[in-house]
Amino acid sequence: MNDDILEKIRRAGAISGEARKLGASLIDEGVTLLSVAEEVEAYMLKKGARPAFPTNLSINDQAAHYTPRSDDKLTFKKGDLVKVDVGAHVDGYIGDTAQTVEVRTKNWTNLINASAKALAMAVETVSEGVTVGSISGTIERAIKSEGFLPVTNLTGHGMGCYNLHAGLTIANYDDGNPTKIKKDMMIAIEPFATNGGGEVRNSKPGNIYRILRDREIKDDGAMKLIGLIKENFHGLPFCERWCTALDPKAPLHLKTLVRHGILYAYPVLTEIKGGMVSQTEHTVVLNGYKAEVTT
Ligand code: CO
Repeated sequence: MNDDILEKIRRAGAISGEARKLGASLIDEGVTLLSVAEEVEAYMLKKGARPAFPTNLSINDQAAHYTPRSDDKLTFKKGDLVKVDVGAHVDGYIGDTAQTVEVRTKNWTNLINASAKALAMAVETVSEGVTVGSISGTIERAIKSEGFLPVTNLTGHGMGCYNLHAGLTIANYDDGNPTKIKKDMMIAIEPFATNGGGEVRNSKPGNIYRILRDREIKDDGAMKLIGLIKENFHGLPFCERWCTALDPKAPLHLKTLVRHGILYAYPVLTEIKGGMVSQTEHTVVLNGYKAEVTT
């Protein structure tokens, strides 16, 4: 891996990690989700990076994919279990990282620790030649040893330049995946632990989008917005808030673009039995053959 790229990966990782801690520190009873997301993303920009995806603030049985809207009034409540999943990129090189915090109670410390321990143990095993299945098995055993279940239909993933999910899929249970970790790979490992059924399902739309396909439609406003989206977000996921900052009529155009199959709206993912969910995530780069946590 060339030094220039490695430097960008490290910088993106460091900024992502700091942004995650900033987000976690701001979460408190009565604070709006919107203010936390905006501060996290402003921090990335101030440090010379850009958000690689909208700040995810998913609460309790929501495992992932909630980000506040531009007019969102939702606040954190006492007892909320909050997954803070953030990512910054530097010229397309991404850091992806998450932690779980509880608002003013300590009811879910063991659940939080289960995903954190699984991540720490999984990261220890990563090196060139290791199979993805063995990393997954380590995650599964660590979570079960704490008395919880891994979420089996959420996975870690490979990453590429301006590509948040590229190549590898790293299951959170031993799926026997024989694919081997190779030099210079960049991966995100993200164990999710739950006291529920161990799966998530799609619920309501969560305000996060990506481009599905290019298509001309007879709507100048919507076509103009899609141009701005391509120019500003480089094919990475984005949200209503960011679009509204570019065009006040964006909420209307986003609906049109989804209806025409040009955009995909990510649903919020919630636990099938309504269980509580914790998540911990780091980005790991194989610098040559050596694993290095960047976030
Ligand atoms: Co990720």
